[in-house]
Amino acid sequence: MATLKASNQGLAKIKQVRNEQGWTIDDPRWLIEASQIVEPTIAWSDLEQVADGVSEGTWKRFLSGKSIETVAFKAFCQVLNLNWEEVIDRSAKPEPRAINPSQQKTSVLLDWGDAPDISVFYDRSEVFDTLTQLLVVDRCRLVALLGMGGIGKTALAVKLTEHNQPQFEGVIWRSLRSTPALSDLLTNLITCLTHVSISTTIEALLSTLIQQLRQRRILLILDGWENILGGDRAGQCKPGYEGYGELLRRIGSDRHQSCLLLTSRENPEEVTLLEDCTPLAKSHKLAGLGTAATEILQAKGLVLEPQHWHQLIQIYRGNPLALNVVATLIQELFDGKVSEALKANTMLGIDQVNHVLTERVRSLSSLEQQLLCCLARDRNPMTREALRSRMSAQASYSEFVGGLSSLDRRSLLEKSSENGKILFTLQPMVMRFVTKLFLA
Ligand SMILES: Nc1ncnc2c1ncn2[C@@H]1O[C@H](COP(=O)(O)OP(=O)(O)OP(=O)(O)O)[C@@H](O)[C@H]1O
Ligand SMILES: [Mg+2]
Repeated sequence: MATLKASNQGLAKIKQVRNEQGWTIDDPRWLIEASQIVEPTIAWSDLEQVADGVSEGTWKRFLSGKSIETVAFKAFCQVLNLNWEEVIDRSAKPEPRAINPSQQKTSVLLDWGDAPDISVFYDRSEVFDTLTQLLVVDRCRLVALLGMGGIGKTALAVKLTEHNQPQFEGVIWRSLRSTPALSDLLTNLITCLTHVSISTTIEALLSTLIQQLRQRRILLILDGWENILGGDRAGQCKPGYEGYGELLRRIGSDRHQSCLLLTSRENPEEVTLLEDCTPLAKSHKLAGLGTAATEILQAKGLVLEPQHWHQLIQIYRGNPLALNVVATLIQELFDGKVSEALKANTMLGIDQVNHVLTERVRSLSSLEQQLLCCLARDRNPMTREALRSRMSAQASYSEFVGGLSSLDRRSLLEKSSENGKILFTLQPMVMRFVTKLFLA
């Protein structure tokens, strides 16, 4: 752990401002205020505890010019309203216990892993501001960015991270596409944070990671959480990957100053539970691009037909992946004319974006598949009661409601409300896909 100590001149300044403050050396407020800086999310004044690393012993070491951990040193300086850089002893060598070359790095850690480079990014300012608020202002410990495949979760997470990176002491991006075993992921993250590789139990690895997230403000991004989901219920971890649920629970509820931003097509069940327990865990369902979607069509050089463009964007619900594919096809097959493509009344591009849906729909429970088929057959939005009456399965009411909420969790349902009643339907893309797969 990197340490700092005050110079003689620094000690004189510290003494002066401490006297001006008028609190005795033993006043608990020094430690409470420093704890508040180290771990702002806890109301320390209500507790009979102080944050890790700001004990009375550390405070006295600080006042007597001995080396203490950097985090505590900076926190005490902040409580004293002093610029830490003006009071440190620059000639000081780290004390023997602090000599750990792997951990001396105080520079910003930037490990983007295999994050994609997003060069073209159309306006998402509203949701961008909402998520920045959660990450930076509210200092959430866990933010889940959810939504259908291709809707733009990864692209938005990249842009959010690029923009907010200065607010963190480090950024680590990891994709879960290759479904790493939890122990591998944790070992990798810990090695990245401490440069020391350790092999021990999952529980010990989790505790080490949390300890690291407590010491430094890190933005950790885990992209594609749906890859480790696949239990019986929506949002449940795959068999063998249950430990990932514990990772979420620990990050969401343990004390630390970092943030995990995850992206997923499906809402992990732990996120819902954590959201009920703490304001520091939040999920956000990402909708399609609004008017900015026209820029995709423009960039593909389609013939300007504003009304038809609007219709096309509506059909694909502003999904940037689908719109990119469709716009290319319209350029190739309809000479860039959206009106001609719409006349053909075919769901262009559905085969090209099928990969987003195929595996997921096939792995649904039979009740969920039946619900999808009913909604696809009827085509019109319908109430829960109407949907229930069309179901042939002998499912109990609670199973039926469970199936419906499971589909919702998987971002496969579209909901609207009419006269105070919720109506359920499918996005045109999903409807066409389900029809082709099960009903054609
Ligand atoms: N705001 C945007 N402006 C321009 N292009 C975008 C935007 N958002 C996403 N895209 C593009 O749309 C495609 C799909 O986006 P992305 O990969 O982020 O979706 P996703 O929701 O992460 O999908 P998946 O669930 O498959 O991981 C990408 O090619 C991406 O660059
Ligand atoms: Mg993605």
